[in-house]
Amino acid sequence: MPLRIAVLASGRGTNLQAILDAIAAGTLDAEVIGAWSDRKDAQALVRARDAGLQARAIRPRDFADRAAHDAALFDALDAAEPDLIVCAGYMRLIGAGVMTARAGRMINIHPSLLPDFKGLHTHQRALDAGVPEHGASVHYVTAELDGGPVVAQARVPVLPGDDAGTLSARVLGREHPLLLETLRWIAAGRVRLHEDGVHVDGQRAAAPLQLAATDRFA
Ligand code: GAR
Repeated sequence: MPLRIAVLASGRGTNLQAILDAIAAGTLDAEVIGAWSDRKDAQALVRARDAGLQARAIRPRDFADRAAHDAALFDALDAAEPDLIVCAGYMRLIGAGVMTARAGRMINIHPSLLPDFKGLHTHQRALDAGVPEHGASVHYVTAELDGGPVVAQARVPVLPGDDAGTLSARVLGREHPLLLETLRWIAAGRVRLHEDGVHVDGQRAAAPLQLAATDRFA
């Protein structure tokens, strides 16, 4: 049975599109069962509908508080029975209870080499810090914002003359293959979350997997 993926996204949805394209091309053995968003105008929802998938916005302002919104959103997600929830540009904080109940079944892609630059504006912060290298990470979601165990990373150089726009474009170009390769390994049962951290091929991983230029893990 292909891995059943539910996608949570707030914005343009290029990571969702990369997943859809890889499945259509036969390079990822998975199924996207729908996309959910906190924003009605998310382009990700349009991409999902164009692919013939269910796509639903559940807006925070229609609920009394974060807990009520989370409950509605994750009840809707659960009803679709995903094996894995992929946060692909979901920009809203999620309450701790949601994460604990789904430990090991929810991943997030974040545009930095975690644990560096958690939170927002990662590209500008990397430039301001003068780091020679930047990138993206896929991690299991836990109650700590952008703090869950990191599965895999892709690295890019920071080049002279970069601004946040050029740097974010370079990172995004590596995010898509990073997310796809991570999903392949999860779909194949090669990556799992255990109490003591990420396990790869049955062994506790000492460090995150690293995406090579071949778009495979080194
Ligand atoms: C991506 O760069 C992703 O890493 C980032 O949002 C962008 C979504 O792009 N996620 C976060 O910043 C989460 N904290 P997309 O909508 O085109 O996939």
